[in-house]
Amino acid sequence: MGKCPQCGEWNTLVEEELTDKASAAPISMREGKPISFDAIEIGTLYKKRCNIGELDRVLGGGIVEGSLVLVGGDPGIGKSTILLQMAHNLASSNMRVLYVTGEESAVQLKIRGERLGVGGAHLLIYPEVILEKIKEQIFFLSPGLVIIDSIQSVFSSRIDAPPGSVSQIRHCAGTLMEIAKGMNIPVFVIGHVTKDGWIAGPKMLEHLVDTVLYFEGDTSGAFRVLRTVKNRFGPTGEIGVFEMKANGLVEVKDPSGVFIHGLGGDLSGSAVMTTIEGTRAFVVEVQSLVSRTTFSMPKRISIGVDLSRISVLLAVMEKRAGLAFSNADVVISVAGGIKVTEPAADLAVVMAIASSALDKPLPKGMIFIGEVGLNGEIRAVSRIETRINEARKMGFSTVTIPDVNVLRLDKPPAKAGIRLVPVVHIKDAFDLFEAKV
Ligand SMILES: Nc1ncnc2c1ncn2[C@@H]1O[C@H](COP(=O)(O)OP(=O)(O)OP(=O)(O)O)[C@@H](O)[C@H]1O
Ligand SMILES: [Mg+2]
Repeated sequence: MGKCPQCGEWNTLVEEELTDKASAAPISMREGKPISFDAIEIGTLYKKRCNIGELDRVLGGGIVEGSLVLVGGDPGIGKSTILLQMAHNLASSNMRVLYVTGEESAVQLKIRGERLGVGGAHLLIYPEVILEKIKEQIFFLSPGLVIIDSIQSVFSSRIDAPPGSVSQIRHCAGTLMEIAKGMNIPVFVIGHVTKDGWIAGPKMLEHLVDTVLYFEGDTSGAFRVLRTVKNRFGPTGEIGVFEMKANGLVEVKDPSGVFIHGLGGDLSGSAVMTTIEGTRAFVVEVQSLVSRTTFSMPKRISIGVDLSRISVLLAVMEKRAGLAFSNADVVISVAGGIKVTEPAADLAVVMAIASSALDKPLPKGMIFIGEVGLNGEIRAVSRIETRINEARKMGFSTVTIPDVNVLRLDKPPAKAGIRLVPVVHIKDAFDLFEAKV
């Protein structure tokens, strides 16, 4: 059967073979008996920094002993590059690092390594795909860190299925988890993504691992964003920003400047906002293009913003502010390939669309922050002070924020050089097209 009659998905059925007990039992090196909660000693959760600040940040402060980390992302986005750089940094601090490459030969890896300037006697490269052999080497070498590039290429001879299949990935990931927990070694696993952007293989893979890091960004552009999707040892939603250069991925410590082009205001269809990702605020530019169409089904294209949110905002603008989009294609794009998921981006999206539809640029140096409700009202957003301060730091002169936020500002941010424009409804915001700043 190729299709599961229950969930309707293809190729998700897994053949389970009964094997003898000894080989099927996982290598269990954990404490054998139940212990009282009070008797558990935490010790210190040791986090080893790899000295790539942006990577340490998304890992929640550093690499946790015995953790299994999954790194996913589009082909060619830089997964092998970042992990090789990390391996080099740790190997330079006298940690033995085992880099298992199942996809590339040792020579290919060496060529990349030369370009990145990595090396060192503690960095061990192991071109192998058979899980049992990898396990043997890990037991033999007991490295301080293991990197598997990639989980889809590894296969166990015990499972009668091709590499990359659901049962292989499940078995290999499970074994690596036991190794990580049993030997207290951090294991990094690279995972491919499918066409729709999910990590290939069973969803279970993401449940099983401790941390999931995801590379996003435009492979053709220079900037890459590493996002924490799941983390058992730290906060999620944190991002690390990198620039791809010939000598590898270089950290962008202050990402604010890289996603905008000047202070806006010259062209229609562009609005700038401050977004908060994890602990940092930075400014991003939302661009829009509204063009007439003669087709009965107008197109809605969105890069970086949730498409269903765009539909909602278009409906609100049509109903509450009288702008019609039924015969217009609408394209929305967040510059730099970054994804903005928070509702605080609504106002900037609405302003960018309106600016393009009316073909009027927004005033220069203006930032838009606010969630848009279904009645067209502008709703309060969190951490407004941080956003305003970031806007000022980047040289913007005016910040349009929800009226409700102004009333609640307990400590008004230092006013020097920044003007706050409170708005109640999207119609008030549209009046800004005529404003002289
Ligand atoms: N000389 C160079 N200068 C700048 N960037 C380069 C250079 N050579 C390669 N790159 C970048 O490195 C990327 C490949 O990185 P890497 O092999 O780490 O990606 P990956 O995510 O591991 O890909 P895959 O899924 O194929 O394993 C290329 O897409 C390119 O952007
Ligand atoms: Mg690779």
